[in-house]
Amino acid sequence: MRLKGLKCLITGGSSGIGKATAERFVAEGAEVLIADIDIEAANRVAEALGEPAWALKCDVRLEHDVEEIASLAHDRWGKVDVLVNNAGSELNRPYDETSVEEWDRVLDTDLKGPWLMCKHFVPRMVEAGSGSVINVSSLNGLVGFPLSTAYGSAKGGLVVFTRDMAIELASTGVRINCVCPGVIDTGMMERWTDLMPDKEEAKTMLRGTMPIGRMGKAEEVAGAIYFFASLDSSLCQGAVLSVDGGFTAQ
Ligand SMILES: NC(=O)c1ccc[n+]([C@@H]2O[C@H](COP(=O)([O-])OP(=O)(O)OC[C@H]3O[C@@H](n4cnc5c(N)ncnc54)[C@H](O)[C@@H]3O)[C@@H](O)[C@H]2O)c1
Repeated sequence: MRLKGLKCLITGGSSGIGKATAERFVAEGAEVLIADIDIEAANRVAEALGEPAWALKCDVRLEHDVEEIASLAHDRWGKVDVLVNNAGSELNRPYDETSVEEWDRVLDTDLKGPWLMCKHFVPRMVEAGSGSVINVSSLNGLVGFPLSTAYGSAKGGLVVFTRDMAIELASTGVRINCVCPGVIDTGMMERWTDLMPDKEEAKTMLRGTMPIGRMGKAEEVAGAIYFFASLDSSLCQGAVLSVDGGFTAQ
C-alpha cells in the first residue's frame, strides 16, 4: 500500500500498460483517474476497479481537453500527486511514405500530449512542493529501427523532454522520470503484428529480439512505473529506465 491516499492520473489507462498501471496503483492504495480518448473502454476499466477509480474522456493532443480534465481533477481531488503520461499512438511506415497527418498524429499523441499534460498539471504540483511524473517512452526512443521515424522521433523526444523537465524541476520537489519498454504483449503489439503477412511468424521474430526470449507483460512495465510513483525512487530525477528484457543491453 505504498501509494495509499495518492491521487494518480493515467493517460491511456483503458488498455495495455496503462490499464495494468491503473490496476497496480489501486492495489497499492491509490485513487486513479483514467484519462483516455476511448471513454467507453476507460469507463469499463474504472467500473471494474471500483470506488477508487474514475474516468474522463481526453484526447491528449488537444489543449482544451487537457485543460478541462485538469480543472475537473483538481475540483474533485484538490491535487494530483502522480501523473503517468502513457497514452501512445504508433506508426510503422517508411519515412517517405509517411503522410503529414500520420506524422502529426504520432508526434502530437506521443510528445505534444505529455508536454500539454505537464503544462496543465505540473505547476500545481510545484505549488504543493511534491509530485511525480512518469513518461512512457520506448526502446524506439533509444535505438534506431526501420519504419520508425515518426514513432522513434516522438519517443526519443520524450526521453530528452524528461531530462530537460527534470533539470527545470530539480529544486521544486517534483520528480519526472521515464520508462522505456521493450516488446510488450498489448493491443499495440497485436496491431503491429496484424500488419505483417504472417502474424505468428512476426510474433516469433519479436520474441527472438528479446534476449530473455519472450515478450514483456504489461504488468512488468506497470511495476517500473509504480517504482517511480512511489518514494522508493525519491532520488531519481530525469532517470531513463529500460524495461526491455535486455534489448538495449546488447
Ligand atoms: N506495447 C509495446 O510493445 C510498447 C513498447 C514500448 C512503448 N510502448 C508505449 O506504451 C504506451 C502504452 O501502449 P500499449 O502498448 O499499452 O498500447 P495500447 O494501444 O494498449 O494503449 C494505448 C492507450 O492510449 C490511448 N490513446 C491513444 N491515443 C490517445 C489520445 N490521443 N489521447 C488519449 N488517449 C489515447 C488508447 O485509447 C489506449 O488506451 C504507449 O505510449 C506506447 O507507445 C508500448
